Amino acid sequence: MNVYDSKRIGDILHNMGYAETSVLHDADLIILNTCHIREKAAEKVFSDLGRIKKIKDERASEGKTTVIGVIGCVVQAEDEEIARRVPYVDFAMGPLTYHRLPETLLNISRRQGTTIIDTEFPAEAKFDFLPENSSLGGCSFLAIQEGCNNFCTYCVVPYTRGAEYSRPVADVIGEAKKLVATGSLEINLLGQNVNSYHGEDVFGKERNIAYLIRELAKIDGLKRIRYTTSYPADINDDLIACHKDIDILMPYLHLPIQSGSNKILKAMNRRHTAEDYLKVVEKLKKANPKIGMSSDFIVGFPGETDEDFQATLDVVNEVKYIQAYSFKYSKRPGTPAAVFNNQVLEKIKEERLQILQNLLFSYQLKFNKESIGKIMPVLFDMKGRHKGQLLGRTPYMQNLHADLDASFFNKIVDIKVTNATTNSLSGEIIKG
Ligand code: 5AD
Ligand code: SF4
Repeated sequence: MNVYDSKRIGDILHNMGYAETSVLHDADLIILNTCHIREKAAEKVFSDLGRIKKIKDERASEGKTTVIGVIGCVVQAEDEEIARRVPYVDFAMGPLTYHRLPETLLNISRRQGTTIIDTEFPAEAKFDFLPENSSLGGCSFLAIQEGCNNFCTYCVVPYTRGAEYSRPVADVIGEAKKLVATGSLEINLLGQNVNSYHGEDVFGKERNIAYLIRELAKIDGLKRIRYTTSYPADINDDLIACHKDIDILMPYLHLPIQSGSNKILKAMNRRHTAEDYLKVVEKLKKANPKIGMSSDFIVGFPGETDEDFQATLDVVNEVKYIQAYSFKYSKRPGTPAAVFNNQVLEKIKEERLQILQNLLFSYQLKFNKESIGKIMPVLFDMKGRHKGQLLGRTPYMQNLHADLDASFFNKIVDIKVTNATTNSLSGEIIKG
């Protein structure tokens, strides 16, 4: 979602006449888009700002002004901290107000020393005020939903991104059509809780994500659809059927379970048990036997015992994830779990993370190795590591490098996989 937000912030700035530079020292305006999900991400903002302040000072000695802005969830959660700790920041805006960036930038010259802060949860939907989501070709993100009502006890999202909001169906379809018309081959529907989407159609009828996927699949020229991130309890049979019926819906699903222990899931305030989750996975695999699963895991949540942790490993052994993200539990101020009195020792969290990651990586490597010799359609939309190389994504979101010239950029090409590591594949084009 932050990649999407950064892109949209870029769209606003382009419209205002700004051009991008890759040299920080050349920038008249520097904006950090920030994440508050774990402590490490949030603290990084302050250390990055320290470095940016030095650039601002250097440029000042050359007679140049530099405007510094901070946007995103760190601002929503720590606006006072920003004004106090880093007063040289000119403006700070939450993730729901960045559509007001043009007015904010106009007000910078009028500011009286203090940082301009905009952390309102606005009545208007920012999507109605953003410029067109210009396609960069290849794969595009399309936010259909934002915010979350689930209040998992470890998570800041309901506080930083606010209550769930679903964009109207017509807006989503219109944006998708424009993206495809301007070169997108793949659309990834985004939301913190994407599968609880319930946007209204033009008749005021609420439609779900399965409806959207079926409508999107009718768009001529669209080759791939994905959706991220789903909440297990909100996956219904309609959505599962899409994995059977819609051939351009990719056979890969990121479906976070967080923990395999029902006791921990309850303490996390998740609305599903491990059994519920496994049942959904089974149905998905029945709908599309080729589907590959991905998940998020938290280890060391307060009260997690060795048995609870073992239950998480059991789920991994059962589902055999082809890819996954795993984190040590991080206390977030203002969330219920931060004050639970049964916190797990850091050392134990570290040990468990290591064990979990070793297991996850072993399945990931196995899946990647099994890809060797197969022919896969790969969408190339990134530059490769070396000159003359392009980097693309397989249907399973695996990174794949191939020696290809620029004429293959933003194309889907049949590639024979020749090599695999835990994190990437390499392959060669099938000569016709
Ligand atoms: N500590 C560790 N991981 C967290 N996540 C969310 N909040 C926390 C936290 N306090 C993880 C969850 C979520 C992912 C985006 O980040 O696994 O799915
Ligand atoms: Fe956070 Fe996801 Fe839980 Fe919502 S469902 S509170 S975004 S972890």
